[in-house]
Amino acid sequence: MALMPILTYPDSRLREKAEPVDPTREDLETLVTDMAETMYHAVGVGLAATQVGVTKRVVVIDCDPGGEESRLIPLINPEILSGEGDSFEEEGCLSVPGYAAKVKRFTRVRARWQDLQGVAHEVETDGLFAIAIQHEIDHLDGKLFVDYLSPLKRELFRKRYKKMHAQETE
Ligand code: NI
Repeated sequence: MALMPILTYPDSRLREKAEPVDPTREDLETLVTDMAETMYHAVGVGLAATQVGVTKRVVVIDCDPGGEESRLIPLINPEILSGEGDSFEEEGCLSVPGYAAKVKRFTRVRARWQDLQGVAHEVETDGLFAIAIQHEIDHLDGKLFVDYLSPLKRELFRKRYKKMHAQETE
């Protein structure tokens, strides 16, 4: 097990599109274990391989890290099949530390992915899990939640983020 460094905005590698993987032909156990350890260490509810510089369609999610409902779900090649309803919840991201904003997402989604053995799973879900899946799939497509901000909010975010992280390195 090993902690992986998490890439942070504006690292250009966060903009890369991840490639599909075949879990029956490729051993993804180590990657998933390391990603899970990294996510738990950073106290996040989800992490995409893109965020640790690996361009594979691999995601880990745990909607209640450290809690009673804690359950690690590795999602290989996750896809949204359909979505409905508008949700507008505050999101954060381990790759955009210190910033949170409300983002419009589907409330309810039908999603499909494979597990580490290559078995396909298809579920309909809502709540935090539905939002996390949408957020993490965006990472695999090179998108960040701050991309959804209005031009004005995005400009404010850029300024604030730059200032905040400039202070950190002083
Ligand atoms: Ni994120």
